[in-house]
Amino acid sequence: MIITPADNYLALDQWLSDKKKLLLVCDDSIRFQKKLNKKLEEIRIPFVSFSDFTPNPLYESVVKGVELIRKEECDCIMAVGGGSAIDVAKCIKKYMNMSGDGADGKWLKENAPSSVIPFLAMPTTAGTGSEATRYAVIYYKGEKQSITDEGFIPDTVLMDPEALKTLPLYQKKATMMDALCHAIESCWSVNSTDESSEYALNAIKAVIKNMDAYLENSEEGNKQMLMAAHIAGKAINISQTTAGHAMCYKITSIFGCAHGHAAVLCDRILYPWMIKNDRLCIDKRGAGHLNKMLNEIGLALGGKDAEEGAEILAGVFAKLELEIPEASGEQMEELVKGVNPVRLKNHPIPLDEETIRQLYREILR
Ligand SMILES: [Fe+2]
Repeated sequence: MIITPADNYLALDQWLSDKKKLLLVCDDSIRFQKKLNKKLEEIRIPFVSFSDFTPNPLYESVVKGVELIRKEECDCIMAVGGGSAIDVAKCIKKYMNMSGDGADGKWLKENAPSSVIPFLAMPTTAGTGSEATRYAVIYYKGEKQSITDEGFIPDTVLMDPEALKTLPLYQKKATMMDALCHAIESCWSVNSTDESSEYALNAIKAVIKNMDAYLENSEEGNKQMLMAAHIAGKAINISQTTAGHAMCYKITSIFGCAHGHAAVLCDRILYPWMIKNDRLCIDKRGAGHLNKMLNEIGLALGGKDAEEGAEILAGVFAKLELEIPEASGEQMEELVKGVNPVRLKNHPIPLDEETIRQLYREILR
């Protein structure tokens, strides 16, 4: 269920009406947190806040959250924030009924399903779409842990465009590009379906249509972009992401670019490269299918075909004035070695090491 901006806090009141105590998992966007605390006080629901986690959240933080929800005996969870807050809340939901205290990464090895505690998510960025997916990412001993659970999809999503108003412009640009890259990669993913493609193409159109209003921080622009990112999340929930995301994580860790910034650095080069190489397609549906999807992306971006779509994507990237990092030879090799092999499997054209190296040379300076 999605609670739209028009009726949001009334519906939150309703959602909370049969609950006794809320665990509020929220990141440190302090100003918005204040507004929310005030709302919860008005609604008169007892709640306890949990913010003891960082971006790229650690398993240890989830363990602390589980300790808290058990001690406070909360009967519902509300996550407010970007992807990190929502992912932490998902993992607290999953692990809260598992045995023991989770020491030594124990819960990561258990394959029990998530608890069924009521779960509401409120995204405060229009980007990750985490509130629409069955995936969560946390880190244990420096290793990324990708966790999948059907119970991760919140029963209710609350959207308040005001949450986006105080986001720094760079974060707004980068998160929007994350949503756009989710939608684009979803279209060409080997796992795409008619349903995921419909979500993805609608998300691309919505990002393009509402970009200016969103960057000007209008309420309508922010509202529409929240919805676009959510729909893109629904698309990757089915199709997953592909080479752009496989290649962008290391760009973030080496150069410190925001995730969406790194993703569009990659996809603006990958898209035209794929148009030139679609005959190498390994998608079971054949090169004709891939060719059709590349054209559909182009049309959704506002062009007349794939080539024009690629030009529009390059134009969007230029307009946002996102930096292109300069990589040394050593960093280039680190990037090539750091590509995520799991996501690469979703890509419709095989990428060998030398191709990846060449692509990185175009992606970076
Ligand atoms: Fe992403």
